Amino acid sequence: MSTRPSFHIETFGCQMNERDSEIMAQLLSEGARPCLDINEADIVLVNTCSIREKAAHKAISLLGQLRAEKGQRRRNPIVGVVGCLAQQEGQALLRRLPHVSLVIGPQNIYQLPALLAEAAQGRRLVAVDQSSSFVIPPLAPQAGSGPPHKRFITIMQGCDNFCTYCVVPYTRGREISRDLDQVVAEARTLVEQGVKELILLGQNVNSYGRKAKEGERRTFAELLRAVARLPGLERLRFTSSNPQDLTHELLLAFAELPVLCPHFHLPVQSGSNRVLARMNRRYTRERYLELIAELRSHRPGIAITTDLIVGFPGETEADFDLTCQLVTEVRYHGAFSFKYSDRPQAKAAGFADKVAEEVKARRLSILQGLIDRMAWERNQEFLGRTERVMVEGASPGGQAGQWQGRTGSSHLVHFVSPVALAVGDLLDVRITGAGQHSLRGELP
Ligand code: 5AD
Ligand code: SF4
Repeated sequence: MSTRPSFHIETFGCQMNERDSEIMAQLLSEGARPCLDINEADIVLVNTCSIREKAAHKAISLLGQLRAEKGQRRRNPIVGVVGCLAQQEGQALLRRLPHVSLVIGPQNIYQLPALLAEAAQGRRLVAVDQSSSFVIPPLAPQAGSGPPHKRFITIMQGCDNFCTYCVVPYTRGREISRDLDQVVAEARTLVEQGVKELILLGQNVNSYGRKAKEGERRTFAELLRAVARLPGLERLRFTSSNPQDLTHELLLAFAELPVLCPHFHLPVQSGSNRVLARMNRRYTRERYLELIAELRSHRPGIAITTDLIVGFPGETEADFDLTCQLVTEVRYHGAFSFKYSDRPQAKAAGFADKVAEEVKARRLSILQGLIDRMAWERNQEFLGRTERVMVEGASPGGQAGQWQGRTGSSHLVHFVSPVALAVGDLLDVRITGAGQHSLRGELP
């Protein structure tokens, strides 16, 4: 039997966190082995999110569960809290949670092996440094440290936009972009390993390179063009975007680069200019609609999705109606909608005119109904079309021969194949059915 300790990583939150968890797994794989069962692992890392109150609660409740079970378990693991909540709470987490040994912020994950060695000696440590001169260390991507067909690359982290509801500038710090050549080298290595789809990640990818010295500045569109040229790359995506930093050069990339997928996630948050201004979102609904029109002129049929917040402090029924009208006007392919929640340090937490919980709940349910109807209508538009689908695996819970994959527009498609397929295979599928959350298709 192996004497190497085993580790389990539980990940909450965004794709940035997913990528950080992959990096941690890669760093740990030298001296430890992964363990799928959280109850069997010698080391348990909880990579946390604190974007909304609910997200933070999820991580805290898992940590509480680990504490309750301690003593009843065969092993008493070293427990580490990582990520955005760790950064936000720091030392306070060690005080509140006596079974936690390590609190590690997003910039400190690279010290994980050293920190774990200390924890193994019985020490309890907090590593939540945050420096605006931090450089994301290059880490040669390892085959097997993520899915074989699609992988994330972090191109920047942090954010300088300070939307008044948002905790990210406090958890991920100031905006820092990685060097273009380094990102392209990482992308090339992955594509040479057979990866077909790359997703470039940052809190605010549209302002990539913004802080570089005059003359050395490489824009996000330049980065996209450089990655798009890699032979063998089939699909390129990116997230997240802020409408206020979108450039014509970037929108044009959708006309120039066929490898760029026909999907744009463009969070609008509200359809009311008054609310947008109080959110410190520096665009208007009119400007937002212009950007969508320009995008659609470059790539007709592109799928557009968004994020929406209801019940931001001071939001009136009239403001909320404007949001509903915007959703109907854009006819989104999908949207995530959330009830506003106060976040520590974010400016809106101090705004006086909070919206009552039952009002938020009612608005959310109206908005979600609208979004669902819109998504269902959009899905009907796929009927009869033939779509290029990337295989993601067998349909979970499906019968033998049932497979699922994704279109370039990110729609999930279920289909039957008489022959076994491999994850990452690209096939033409004729769409024969469209539901609320997915499409059905047949091989021609
Ligand atoms: N309350 C509710 N939703 C929020 N989001 C970010 N901060 C908050 C908050 N305090 C939502 C936004 C963002 C998405 C990732 O989470 O819609 O785009
Ligand atoms: Fe959550 Fe934002 Fe941190 Fe991602 S960056 S884990 S969404 S708080």
